Amino acid sequence: MHWTKHLESGALALFLGAAALAAGGQGVPASSTLHQRSAIQSSERDWWKSAVIYEIYPRSFQDSNGDGVGDLNGITQRLDYLKELGIDAIWLSPVYPSPQVDFGYDISDYKNIDPQYGTMADFDRLVAEAGKRHIRVLMDMVMNHSSDKHQWFLQSRSSRTNPYRDWYVWSDGKGETTTDKGQPPNNWISYFGHSAWQWDETTRQYYYHKFYAQQPDLNWNNPKVHEAFKDIISFWLKRGVGGFRFDAVPTLFEDPNLTDEGVVKDKDGKPIINSFGDQELDDSKTTNQPGVHEVMQEMRAYADTFSAASFPGTRVLIGETYMPNITELAKMYGPAGKPEFQLPMDTQVGMINKLDVATFRTKLIEAETELNNNTPLLLFDNHDNPRIQARYGDGVHDTDIQRALSTVLFLSRGAVQMYYGDEIGMLTTTPSRKEDVKDPIGISGWPEEKGRDGERTPMQWDSSANAGFSTAKPWLPVPPSAALLNVADESRDPSSLLAWYRSLIRIKKTNPTMVCGVETMLDTNNTKVLSWMRKAQGAPPVVVSVNFTAESQTVNLNVPGANGKLKTLLKTPGASDPASLEKIELGPYGVYIGEVK
Ligand code: GLC
Repeated sequence: MHWTKHLESGALALFLGAAALAAGGQGVPASSTLHQRSAIQSSERDWWKSAVIYEIYPRSFQDSNGDGVGDLNGITQRLDYLKELGIDAIWLSPVYPSPQVDFGYDISDYKNIDPQYGTMADFDRLVAEAGKRHIRVLMDMVMNHSSDKHQWFLQSRSSRTNPYRDWYVWSDGKGETTTDKGQPPNNWISYFGHSAWQWDETTRQYYYHKFYAQQPDLNWNNPKVHEAFKDIISFWLKRGVGGFRFDAVPTLFEDPNLTDEGVVKDKDGKPIINSFGDQELDDSKTTNQPGVHEVMQEMRAYADTFSAASFPGTRVLIGETYMPNITELAKMYGPAGKPEFQLPMDTQVGMINKLDVATFRTKLIEAETELNNNTPLLLFDNHDNPRIQARYGDGVHDTDIQRALSTVLFLSRGAVQMYYGDEIGMLTTTPSRKEDVKDPIGISGWPEEKGRDGERTPMQWDSSANAGFSTAKPWLPVPPSAALLNVADESRDPSSLLAWYRSLIRIKKTNPTMVCGVETMLDTNNTKVLSWMRKAQGAPPVVVSVNFTAESQTVNLNVPGANGKLKTLLKTPGASDPASLEKIELGPYGVYIGEVK
């Protein structure tokens, strides 16, 4: 089962700035003219609008101290690699102190670093070194719940009169007596299996947890919780972070009446049973409840106060927003005058999970036209979902398919979120034995739900035994595919996927049309090839054609006003240049990108 399933119910100035920064590294180049300077300032402000955001799962990126677990100093060591790739920001999955039940998404201290990952000094060094390479560091911010070991919760559970009691969601059970705990207050279930209510003997009440029992939900009806999180956000922004990815946003609030949720039925009227053996519920009382948007407006207004002169560069808020459709996603940007996220993730495109040209076209048009001129944030995978190849590959053309999909990702208008290892085509390697599983949902849900270890394996730097990730046995095994799919080997091969990613990112960041140009679909009845054009004032239009099939295809792109001539920017390795716009030949899963003359 895919993680998404859990949550489903639920200008040119910019270009000049980007190019100047790419050429001059960080800051304003000494020779810059006034014009360039203002372009750079605008690029600082708008950096996120065409940003490439690279997610790092810190446990698995680079181990620097030989304990088999990745760490902050490891990431710092690899910054030159990331700079060469051309990314703008790294998003770090949580590195705060944590019992690691959910590998950091159970936070016990929001203002510190887990010793497993390093020290606060290591963190400051990472931010400073990344800054020198013009890479921003974004933190993960988990606001739905804390760890049950957080001081707030330890206090909260200690007595019904403790000042922290109402920082969490507590309730009496049903039919509870002085000797019997009765039944949970309602039928709500956790995304991670079974009742979302946990009995707590000390104070004889149940507490609510949408995720693991060790992740009690915070009570967002309590203004003190809001203040606590603003204080945490301020703490990290003052340390120089470029923004946050807000975790599990739709689940912040629950129905205050604790009404039962509806049971989801199949077409024969039978309840659907999920991989944990529970009846699937409709999530109608525990996700997207009133209040979520107001909290995000409050957090955005607060974060924006840090984007003033003394803190150059906009602080960006990304949302973990698995929304059911584009209308709901559009709301995550906030209503006019009350902004919420700059970049709520758009799972509409990347989670189609099928190479279906018409659906891709529809979803991309929606992203371009139905988000009220906001910036889409496209992505294909992350630490919760099987990697690209596992969801789109055919086992024969996996690299070609990833070339095709990465073209859609990087050359559509907007910002991009990518996941470490995508650029080398890392595979999802799911454990084959229950005893090897680390992700708790893979243990409790075995064999139907095997957990998320498969997409969290160590970064493959080279073909050595531990893939250059660690000198010790890595916390998750390095898959055999690392012998072929690794940074060292792919760096030497101009036709590798890594070389393709570098080229796409360079085009996205330096071609004036691709930085900010508007997007129009071409050849819209074609069910085999997805083609589109990007256009920006004062720069040549760019056309992109991506063959979604294993057979060769020929497309005729009729661009009004064009004389049919093309200048190739990038094409599938080995392919020849097309004679004209009217006859672009594409091999299996082939890609063509060219400037229209
Ligand atoms: C988010 C994270 C996921 C985590 C969950 C609970 O969905 O991406 O990894 O398990 O929140 O914090």
